[in-house]
Amino acid sequence: MLEMRNVSYEVDNQRIIKGIDLKVSEGDTIAIVGPSGSGKSTLFRLMNHLISPTDGTITFEGKRYEDIQPEQLRRSISYLLQESDLFDKTIGENLAFPSVIRGETFDKSRASSLLDAVGLGHYEFDKRVEHLSGGERQRITIARQLMYKPKVLLLDEATSALDTANRDKIERLIFDLADEGVAMLWITHSNDQSIRHFKRRIQIVDGQIDKEESLR
Ligand SMILES: Nc1ncnc2c1ncn2[C@@H]1O[C@H](COP(=O)(O)OP(=O)(O)O)[C@@H](O)[C@H]1O
Ligand SMILES: [Mg+2]
Repeated sequence: MLEMRNVSYEVDNQRIIKGIDLKVSEGDTIAIVGPSGSGKSTLFRLMNHLISPTDGTITFEGKRYEDIQPEQLRRSISYLLQESDLFDKTIGENLAFPSVIRGETFDKSRASSLLDAVGLGHYEFDKRVEHLSGGERQRITIARQLMYKPKVLLLDEATSALDTANRDKIERLIFDLADEGVAMLWITHSNDQSIRHFKRRIQIVDGQIDKEESLR
């Protein structure tokens, strides 16, 4: 589905990503581990076409990235950042946003069930998000990101700010999506409890794939 061939990325004469080959298939669950500064987030920025490789090619469903409209690509490949990025409006307005940009009707029942799944089912849609805690805002960000099912989901330490119970909820939600065929790559810590749920683990060191393992 998503394929990187000999991908490198250079900035200020420094190669941050060095000749990465990677194939992601439907339903893949891949843990990305590696030291801080090793290039994990840069790899995701390349996959989300926020930046372009200085060498090598990336294709999605057989098409080169440069031949796909970036907005189109980002509807299929969804990148969830570490921090929340909600608008200071209501929960409902935030959850409706993905349908607004697509010119479609807001699926309120999907929004409710996602809100439930992230453990915030007790809030009404008209609740404003400004006064919620950081963890609650992050969980609403996750629900918003999943209003439309992506084909590939990139999670950049997306649950690191959450407590264990809420992290478990989010993990269940996301691994359920993987069971439905969504490919998922998650930058996480190798000692996380959840590591055993993944099919593959890829270790990035100094911009390269240092080690790749099948976990099940
Ligand atoms: N736009 C940029 N300009 C200069 N250096 C960058 C840029 N983006 C990332 N880097 C550097 O590339 C390296 C990898 O960064 P990053 O992908 O964020 O690592 P990780 O997510 O594994 O912690 C770091 O040394 C970082 O400082
Ligand atoms: Mg990072």
